[in-house]
Amino acid sequence: MFDTLWYGGDYNPEQWAPDVWDDDVRLMQRAGVTVATVGVFSWAKLEPADGEFDFAWLDDVIDRLHAGGVAVDLATATAAPPPWLVREHPDVLPVMADGTVLGVGSRQHYSPSSATYRRYAARLAERIVHRYADHPAVIAWHVNNEYGCHVPRCYSDESAVAFRAWLAERYGDIETLNDAWGTAFWSQHYASFEEVMPPRAAPASINPTQQLDFDRFSSDALLALHVMESEIIRARSDKPITTNFMGFFKAADYWAWAQHVDFVTDDAYPDPADPRAIPYAAAVRDIMRSLAGDKPWILMEQATSAVNWRPRNAPKPVGGFRRLSLQSIARGADGIMQFQWRQSVRGSEKFHSAMVPHAGEDTRIFREVCALGEELARLTDVIGTRVPSRVAVMFDWDSWWALEQTDTPARVSYVHAVLAWHHALWRAGVTVDFASRSSSLDSYDLVIVPSMQVVTPEVQERVAAARERGATVLVTYQSAILDLGLGVLPGGYLGSWASMLGVRVEEFAPFAHPDQYFDAPSTVPGSAVEGALAGDIEGWSEVVHADAAEVLATFTEGLAAGGPAITRRAPSEGAGAAWYVATQPSDALADAVVARLLADSGVTPVATSASPEVEAVRRGEKLFLINHGATAAEVEWDGGAATLEPGEVRVVASA
Ligand code: GLA
Repeated sequence: MFDTLWYGGDYNPEQWAPDVWDDDVRLMQRAGVTVATVGVFSWAKLEPADGEFDFAWLDDVIDRLHAGGVAVDLATATAAPPPWLVREHPDVLPVMADGTVLGVGSRQHYSPSSATYRRYAARLAERIVHRYADHPAVIAWHVNNEYGCHVPRCYSDESAVAFRAWLAERYGDIETLNDAWGTAFWSQHYASFEEVMPPRAAPASINPTQQLDFDRFSSDALLALHVMESEIIRARSDKPITTNFMGFFKAADYWAWAQHVDFVTDDAYPDPADPRAIPYAAAVRDIMRSLAGDKPWILMEQATSAVNWRPRNAPKPVGGFRRLSLQSIARGADGIMQFQWRQSVRGSEKFHSAMVPHAGEDTRIFREVCALGEELARLTDVIGTRVPSRVAVMFDWDSWWALEQTDTPARVSYVHAVLAWHHALWRAGVTVDFASRSSSLDSYDLVIVPSMQVVTPEVQERVAAARERGATVLVTYQSAILDLGLGVLPGGYLGSWASMLGVRVEEFAPFAHPDQYFDAPSTVPGSAVEGALAGDIEGWSEVVHADAAEVLATFTEGLAAGGPAITRRAPSEGAGAAWYVATQPSDALADAVVARLLADSGVTPVATSASPEVEAVRRGEKLFLINHGATAAEVEWDGGAATLEPGEVRVVASA
């Protein structure tokens, strides 16, 4: 699929007069651009009135790109319905839980369940594919754009009908649904599917399983749109198909989605002002690589500098664009694409950075863009090479949805709970894969299961089997509490993992916090644990009995004071160590636990540095060393050592 790494960006020529298009091609050549994503928001221009299509301008654009040696990732243009469609068919509009209808004037104003939207989107996609399938410039298809980004769920009457059909398919008959949802509670028993509604605004908390099923349905409803367009493309073209993901995006279960793309693509906008943005970005690359499995993945959108949609939009520091780009390549990406090619001068995104800034070509940004183009052209031998990892961190959308509902012991941020472990491993120089509930764990020496609240017997068995064959296992608080219908597991919290870990959890005791969502460490009331592994914790404690495990830390406050907070069941008879962490650790405490996990599992870092801002990743036969910090840092690896200057990236050969 790739002779060169993809390098380029979203190209929106319809915002410019044709004389600018020639200049675009000239500058793309200067910058080493290999691919442009074209047509993402072109519906109104391609179909200016119902059934009247105008492709002449797009023919011209694609021909010019082709003549200039730039390939095209062609969008199906269905992401923003034109105003005429809404005027003729207001039923395409999405409806919120409180009945608010979202209108025109922005983008993504469609309900995934609207039959009208689907009909018109299918027709447009068909026309585009029919016209350009054989164009030599077109190397891939870009379906829609960021499904669910602005409208993750629709509660319209038409969505209600689709939700009922989805439920009928899942449960077969209404009594099975009643059992699964526990509708004996609060007089919620349904006599037929026709009585079931989306979880619209209601007087009090809504049935948790109804909410979870609506989350599942909403992810599937968006995915069905992608599948509809993909089938249209596939009937006419064998070029690879993608739709751009958005990192840890709650509304779409990307494990399911990834089965339906030929290559995974991601849009990532880490905040340059956020000190945790670098490891967070690393985690996003890691989940994209993990979602892709054996397929390629590409960074489809990032900013060259600032975005425009935060309250305050920090620019990337000098070299920051390059470092985050090479971080992606190191973590498996086969291309670096930007939003967008030329900075808009009108519209909502005119203050969003681009490859060609308002100030033109004689600029820091354009120079960095050209330099990266040259550098990527020299890195083609990474294409298709793998990023080895001996550690799996489990990530599960059902648990995300369930854990962050209301009516739980405490508001917990699932991503924060998971990334505490990813980031501690990142600081240790250890590369992590993410694993789904159904991923094979066979190749991992360390398996981390953070706050996986919803489990199946199969995942419980798979994790236990990994431990039995010698892998070290870590399970953290709020894991294995509920089944797929959100019923509390029979036999107690942790289910079968209780015997694997040698602990029982009796009661939860989160620390009181009046009004804060517990996702930002600084806002969570702290406490501490003491013992062999002492340190600060955030927000959570629970009453644990360590029946067959060593207690390495105990709680110091509250109901659980004096009781186990961190336990380890020693390896025995070929089985690995089994750890339980009954709280959310501070970074320092997570680092201390990770050091012990690495010792138990035999997993070693690819390189070591005293600086926490050095990132080291092996890809194929190359070792990528990135100093994100503002001071020089020493790095050592098997067979080498170097001093990295502030901000330096070095790619060295490594066996
Ligand atoms: C998303 C969209 C783009 C653009 C960028 C701005 O990634 O896909 O169209 O709006 O955000 O950051």
